Amino acid sequence: MKQINLRAHFKYIVRKIRFSSKKVFWSLKYYGFDLTILGLFLQLLSFMGKNLTSTHWYKTITSSRFDKRFRVDTAGYIIPEELDISIHRKQTAVQYQPTASVTFPVVISELPINYSDYVFIDYGSGKGRSLLLASHFPFKQIIGVELSNKLHQIAEKNMASFLKRQVKCRNRVSVCEDATAFNLPKENLIIYFFRPFNREILTLVLNNIRRSLEECFRHIIILYYYPEQRNLFSGIDYLRKINLGIEDRRWEIYESIPGGGWELHRNPG
Ligand SMILES: C[S@@+](CC[C@H](N)C(=O)[O-])C[C@H]1O[C@@H](n2cnc3c(N)ncnc32)[C@H](O)[C@@H]1O
Repeated sequence: MKQINLRAHFKYIVRKIRFSSKKVFWSLKYYGFDLTILGLFLQLLSFMGKNLTSTHWYKTITSSRFDKRFRVDTAGYIIPEELDISIHRKQTAVQYQPTASVTFPVVISELPINYSDYVFIDYGSGKGRSLLLASHFPFKQIIGVELSNKLHQIAEKNMASFLKRQVKCRNRVSVCEDATAFNLPKENLIIYFFRPFNREILTLVLNNIRRSLEECFRHIIILYYYPEQRNLFSGIDYLRKINLGIEDRRWEIYESIPGGGWELHRNPG
């Protein structure tokens, strides 16, 4: 019994070291040496209490460093009232902010998939930060769906000027469209949600995903970062939660279940 515990403990430590070293790798790439050292120092302090790498000022400086290094414009916060979208959509949208964490590439790199068999889709892609980050992986295609034309245009510019070094997917596109109207490609998909819209719109989008799976079953992985509406997912019978062993409560990951449960509901008995 003691031996099993010891083995589990050892595995946990090895996993922790693997994740941490991956985080350091991506932090060096995105933010540079000085901010990586600062991040590690803050992390060390956080063992004594608060997680300081999540503080607003650290996010702000790392975000503008990313933009400077890669010659893009993705940083900042924009409230829905300032977006060029309809009054109704201003009520259903959440403020623009870019994916800030280096855990994004760590999570992507842990997915047990062949990237070139999958299309990456970001619902509510804003200025396209996640589209840029995802292009460090050899996806078949990368698609951003963004309602605001202003943000969509910035995303297009960013994709054009993003430093091409080590970009493994150049097949990237930003689509200016309402998420509820977007037609999913009949491909294996990685779908990314990062606080894009409220419960009402997320429900409609999840229903579209269900319909698309009913028409053509395929492997879909949903990455949900900051899962504020996580209880919407718990009752969905065509998805199951998966655990990559990343002990980060800001991420929830789901995949489509072969055969799904919806046919049982449609033809009971
Ligand atoms: C928090 S930002 C996400 C940024 C981006 N995903 C990233 O990782 O950098 C949310 C985005 O969702 C967009 N959005 C809000 N409602 C939408 C809708 N109905 N359809 C498409 N995009 C929407 C907003 O304009 C905003 O740019």
